[in-house]
Amino acid sequence: MATSGKGLEHVVLGDSSLTLVAGETGGLSYRGFDIGELVPRASYEGVVHLLLWGEPPARDPPERLSAELRERRIVPHALARRMEAVPPGLPPLEAMRSLLSLLGSPEWRYPPTDEQGLDLIAKTPTILAQYVRRSSGRAPLPDRPELGHVAHFLYQLTGEVPPAAKARALEQYCIMLADHGMNASTFALRIVISTQSDLISGAVAALGALKGPAHGGAPSKVADMLDAVGTPENAERWVEAALGRKERLMGFGHRAYKTEDPRAVLLKQIAKEIADPERLRVAEAVERAGVAALQRKRPEARLFLNVEFYGAVVLEAVGLPRELFTPTFAVARTAGWAAHAKEQSQDNRLIRPDVRYTGPAPGRGWPASPA
Ligand code: ACO
Repeated sequence: MATSGKGLEHVVLGDSSLTLVAGETGGLSYRGFDIGELVPRASYEGVVHLLLWGEPPARDPPERLSAELRERRIVPHALARRMEAVPPGLPPLEAMRSLLSLLGSPEWRYPPTDEQGLDLIAKTPTILAQYVRRSSGRAPLPDRPELGHVAHFLYQLTGEVPPAAKARALEQYCIMLADHGMNASTFALRIVISTQSDLISGAVAALGALKGPAHGGAPSKVADMLDAVGTPENAERWVEAALGRKERLMGFGHRAYKTEDPRAVLLKQIAKEIADPERLRVAEAVERAGVAALQRKRPEARLFLNVEFYGAVVLEAVGLPRELFTPTFAVARTAGWAAHAKEQSQDNRLIRPDVRYTGPAPGRGWPASPA
């Protein structure tokens, strides 16, 4: 049997026309549009259009799609009642996993439809925000139709119409996080869809994969690390001590990128515009110390910043508490999940790899039962 690395690195699962991750050169593009082109110009709704239908909208933000997402983000009463089954006070990420599965009623059948994809994208932020409000004894807010998808999400979480700069910063974060090739959560989703299961089941599996710190679970740990470092002067000492304890530096390293993650570069620019200058100085000092130490100790591993490092600084600066960092990543990634589910179902084959058996040889006898 042919074998590959345990982590399936360099294994090509099949074809995809969604996202090109150029790990050696630090490139990222969705359907031919470089992330550096999309982040300053596109709306999140425009990127949803691009990912789901392959082409940019004629005008951005796309009027029809924006209206459809606006309509679909309103949670019907019956669904809201169902969501109340999730007890308040659970961490938002754990709650979100249950809420997503409650969203998936039996009508969510294979193959995934565009309408289901839009429902997933539109309702995920609402059900998360409504849960967060319920957990702190606050009622859901009335919809503000003038707010776009991402600004509305922030409004629901904070209870205030966000300042334009913060809303745009979060929208740019969501554009950058909307898709990323065959990452672990998308792979999990594609496995589920390949069994001809439904989109919500795929999204629940994807969220489970996203949760771990080797994937989307790192940004709150980045914020913890910056707290622990405390001051720019302490960065080098702290990094050396952490690596001395054989710890991994959160927000550093990537399976695909062997140079700077282009999203880290763009997020740093955004952080410079909106983050607390003191926090930014600590982050920049940790970046310098971390990159230098990893380069010195593990040059062959080629470890640089990943999306989570300045992602955490940006999410903090827009006013999100750290338990919402990974759920917000998931909100952004629903666009990619919906697009990958569609692509998988259009040329489907059950994904079912093999393992090399290393257990005892067959033919063992079962212990006799006592008489
Ligand atoms: N800090 C210190 N050492 C590291 C780091 C790090 N952040 N990342 C990798 N290394 C080391 C590993 O220990 C390994 O050394 P070893 O061979 O002696 O064990 C070597 O570099 C190669 O790393 P791999 O484990 O092969 O890298 P892999 O591709 O499996 O992992 C990952 C990538 C999980 C992102 C890793 O770099 C990591 O744990 N980073 C920290 C957590 C993090 O930032 N997660 C967010 C990822 S971004 C995203 O998914 C959205």
